Amino acid sequence: MSSTETRTVAPATGKLGILTPGLGAVATTFMAGVESVRRGLSKPVGSLTQMATIRLGKRTENRSPLIKEFVPLANLEDIVFGAWDPIPDDAYTAAKKAGVLEDKDLEPLKDFLSAIKPMPAAFENHYVTRIHGTNVKTGKTKRDVAEQLRQDIRDFKAKNGLDRVVIVWCASTEIYIKPGAAHATIDAFEKAMDANDEQIAPSMLYAYAAIMEGVPFANGAPNLSADVPALVQLANDRGVPISGKDFKTGQTWMKTVIAPGLKARMLGLAGWYSTNILGNRDGEVLDDPASFKTKEESKLSVLHTILQPEKYPELYKDFSHVVRINYYPPRGDNKEGWDNIDIVGWMGYPMQIKVNFLCRDSILAAPIVLDLALFSDFAQRAGMKGIQEWLSFYYKSPMAAPGLQPEHDLFIQQTKLKNTLRHLMGEEQITHLGLEYYQS
Ligand SMILES: NC(=O)c1ccc[n+]([C@@H]2O[C@H](COP(=O)([O-])OP(=O)(O)OC[C@H]3O[C@@H](n4cnc5c(N)ncnc54)[C@H](O)[C@@H]3O)[C@@H](O)[C@H]2O)c1
Repeated sequence: MSSTETRTVAPATGKLGILTPGLGAVATTFMAGVESVRRGLSKPVGSLTQMATIRLGKRTENRSPLIKEFVPLANLEDIVFGAWDPIPDDAYTAAKKAGVLEDKDLEPLKDFLSAIKPMPAAFENHYVTRIHGTNVKTGKTKRDVAEQLRQDIRDFKAKNGLDRVVIVWCASTEIYIKPGAAHATIDAFEKAMDANDEQIAPSMLYAYAAIMEGVPFANGAPNLSADVPALVQLANDRGVPISGKDFKTGQTWMKTVIAPGLKARMLGLAGWYSTNILGNRDGEVLDDPASFKTKEESKLSVLHTILQPEKYPELYKDFSHVVRINYYPPRGDNKEGWDNIDIVGWMGYPMQIKVNFLCRDSILAAPIVLDLALFSDFAQRAGMKGIQEWLSFYYKSPMAAPGLQPEHDLFIQQTKLKNTLRHLMGEEQITHLGLEYYQS
């Protein structure tokens, strides 16, 4: 297909169901925010699908529609929410406990949020040691549990008269699992589910169930989930878009903004020390070293791929990179991050950059959940399948084809995202060459 050929994108008719494994801080802030926007009480700040424009054609053409007017995305009015969680709290109670939103924003939405009750989760304490839930599925094998998840998806769709469903993982970070033999092929994966193999984490059961039901799956946490050969193959075979991993918010987002700037100017890096304090449940889960290891791997990879020390050894060889997350309950969801960046300039002179980011984790993550849900649904209607690399804009550890370095630079990711939309809608790519404006 040429870059300007239009694909037939099926229209976004009917209702779209968004299911989240996990009904904690991020998921409830997302759901409350969408409802608040629908009622005209808030603006969807932070969401490209709702607020960003996209330039089309030459600068002289003055064509810059909103993305949502350019590509056929589901309307917020057509979204229906559902969730799974081992903790039985409804979305209102969970949001209250998460403490992200203030009562003035939460109380007007109480009826709406109270009606969202989590389905029993595919959950095992072994994979998330700090959570003790009662709302949990039972089954003889992991395959049984996956089949129950599939049934949940079908029931949710039928009960709500939905046209389409997408799943965005908003549940806790699981312990670190290395991709292995159980994940290598679809056959091995299914056998491992039958054998209750420890290598099959609950998040993989959701990913498997989603793909089997033809439901796009986006993974907001760093655990592997769909990022194993078996499930990538399954997604390709069944024509289902998948993406992940780990929402790019807070400190890592900031890293992928600053590091490309240093590299663009050929400034060196001696070290980057990042530390965080946070006191939400996510922080508590990450206080467990096994869950933190999954997160650490996800956070550490970005600088190397952006700075390419193998290409620029004089500037970036052996820089030291340390990431810490400390659970500190008084802060709740209002994380504070400090970055100390030791950079090196002309004639080797050292300089320092200090960043003190007082962010709100779930406030940054919620619009990402919305965009991933709407873009994943759009991708499916546009006939896209398998890994959606153009969504790496939203992730700390983007999934990429085997052997391909994922792209971490936020601005390259943004260009890729917008060019993919142009490509799918039959518009010219924008190269920013612009010589034509100067030719007489
Ligand atoms: N907020 C951010 O900025 C951000 C950024 C990147 C990634 N994340 C990831 O997003 C996820 C959600 O974050 P949060 O702050 O909402 O955490 P949270 O602890 O408030 O919510 C997570 C919920 O998932 C539930 N859960 C655990 N295992 C489950 C399973 N197997 N099935 C269904 N539910 C399950 C927990 O009971 C909990 O209610 C975490 O993995 C976090 O690491 C968040």
